[in-house]
Amino acid sequence: MVNKAVGKKLAQVNIVLLGKGNVGNAWLSLFEEQKARYADTVIVNLIAVANSTKYLLNLAGLSVDEFNEFSKNSVSGNLSGLTEKVTQANLDNIVIIDVTASQDITLSYPEFAALGWNIISANKIPGTVSSERYKRLISLLKTNACYWGINATVGAALPIQSSLVELIQAGDRILSISGVFSGSLSYLLVNYDGKTSFTDLIKQARDAGFTEPDPRDDLSGADVQKKLLILARLAGYIINLDDIDVKPLLPETFLEGSLADFWGKKDQIDSYMAETFANAAQQNQKLVYQAKVSFVDKVALTSVSLTSLPSSNAVTQLSPTDNVFTLKTDFYNENPLIIRGPGAGAIVTATAVNIDLNKFVTQLAISNETSNHNKN
Ligand SMILES: NC(=O)c1ccc[n+]([C@@H]2O[C@H](COP(=O)([O-])OP(=O)(O)OC[C@H]3O[C@@H](n4cnc5c(N)ncnc54)[C@H](OP(=O)(O)O)[C@@H]3O)[C@@H](O)[C@H]2O)c1
Repeated sequence: MVNKAVGKKLAQVNIVLLGKGNVGNAWLSLFEEQKARYADTVIVNLIAVANSTKYLLNLAGLSVDEFNEFSKNSVSGNLSGLTEKVTQANLDNIVIIDVTASQDITLSYPEFAALGWNIISANKIPGTVSSERYKRLISLLKTNACYWGINATVGAALPIQSSLVELIQAGDRILSISGVFSGSLSYLLVNYDGKTSFTDLIKQARDAGFTEPDPRDDLSGADVQKKLLILARLAGYIINLDDIDVKPLLPETFLEGSLADFWGKKDQIDSYMAETFANAAQQNQKLVYQAKVSFVDKVALTSVSLTSLPSSNAVTQLSPTDNVFTLKTDFYNENPLIIRGPGAGAIVTATAVNIDLNKFVTQLAISNETSNHNKN
């Protein structure tokens, strides 16, 4: 398409949104405004939206009316059917936005990269696969010049990943990363006052879209473990999930079995947590779920656990859903860099996706401008 005002040919981005849950719907609610922001530089089309069983496809770009009526307009089908149709269309600049928590979609990342498709993930699984698979994926993405944005995987829209990467690129060395990486666990630990039971708070957090689809992914520490791994890998340490020492917020016995089994243990969980909070309060301490990685002699030393800290400690002064990241580096040593703010929630996570999209679109607009210029 040609921008009539200035007569230049605009590049086109074709987005496939995988996942239409909390984050997917929040992203869709922001899409039209975001698209309008690029109107003079790049045409941004949303060509497909999918959940686990259905998809909606319009290669010319879906209208708001079309995607708002997803259930009515979509057809039954899975990712392979959708991938086949998008491949056949032979479009440029495809961006997969993965706002699922799906293992199956993770398995398709190498295929996306081989097709030259770009990816933006809120899904943490692809960034936490085994180091061998991770290195292969990175190499495939590089070979095929694909963009991979992972800003939404840790800290929602807080600038933790960009700060890490930019400090390293500017010659700094990361010594440690620590803090509270789970907005959902902060929500539970900050809001607990003994009046609402701990499991009722979990339900509140889940209903508000702050927890993982299965809240035990938060309570087991698995979600924080993944976030710590993603940050350690960004800092240049390609370790594995198993290398991270994790103590769950709740004892393993409460987390075993099905989700229904978990809710069935409500009374035991509530009295266990009431006692844990009371013990901390007796010593004038507060509970936080802390993660830490220190890089010493090329080794990453890690820990993830429920910790009680003096109520005067700044890390305990969090608002519900807050994350705090403390970066100790060569340049931020005596006085570490602290990044703090909401780290969970659909809109801030959708915004983190848009920050990545913006990076991709901006880069594309520059190369398109350069190529238009060279042709003239
Ligand atoms: N919520 C937050 O605050 C937050 C913050 C940071 C990161 N995240 C991450 O963002 C992702 C989404 O979170 P959410 O809260 O939006 O989860 P959610 O509400 O459970 O939504 C997940 C969506 O993914 C879809 N899905 C699952 N498997 C799929 C497949 N194979 N193909 C296409 N779609 C598939 C589900 O479809 P069905 O409905 O058909 O199952 C659903 O629409 C997760 O990875 C989460 O860790 C969330």
